[in-house]
Amino acid sequence: MKIMIVTASPNADGLTAACGEHARLGAAISGAETVMIRLNDLAIGMCRACGDGWGDCGERHVCRTADDFQKTHEMMGQMDGFVFVTPVYWGDMSESAKAFVDRVRRCEAFKKDSRYIAGKPVICVAAAGGTGNGCMTCLGTMERFVDHVKGVKVDFIGVTRKNREYKLRTIYEAVKSMAESGQR
Ligand SMILES: Cc1cc2nc3c(=O)[nH]c(=O)nc-3n(C[C@H](O)[C@H](O)[C@H](O)COP(=O)(O)O)c2cc1C
Repeated sequence: MKIMIVTASPNADGLTAACGEHARLGAAISGAETVMIRLNDLAIGMCRACGDGWGDCGERHVCRTADDFQKTHEMMGQMDGFVFVTPVYWGDMSESAKAFVDRVRRCEAFKKDSRYIAGKPVICVAAAGGTGNGCMTCLGTMERFVDHVKGVKVDFIGVTRKNREYKLRTIYEAVKSMAESGQR
């Protein structure tokens, strides 16, 4: 099984990174292969809502704004599962996470027989390292994305400063379980 772990924080050693690392460890213990994507290391700009707003990505299923999106999107087709980890900013996903999921959604939402995310297991993690406020609204936005791309919901995990210790273990166990189910 191949699992893509997408993190979306500017900090290489913060809470988001710790969540991503626990996801990686959970996948690795099950023998799954992992692909780590740090969105903030890539140049992935926002959706330009081409044309009248619908663009042609809904029909062509590719984005015409050329940057690091294309290679990352293409890689998704080779995966068997996904973990998306974002820091909570303003009760929502970070800007790099939003830019990425917006463009994936537009390319994937109307695809028939997609081999990219549809039908594949997804775990979403919102890392709210401040007050903890907005953790649930962020997870709600992530859930809508998973709905639109027809992913299979495995778990939605909210991490705060107060639950960090046991939620990191939860992430490890959730990804381990997802990887093991994929091998059965
Ligand atoms: C612009 C901005 C907005 C934030 N908004 C929230 C918030 O709504 N709720 C919260 O609990 N933390 C909030 N935080 C704190 C981050 O969630 C926290 O610092 C988190 O640990 C960031 O992940 P990192 O450690 O990977 O950088 C915000 C931080 C920034 C920079």
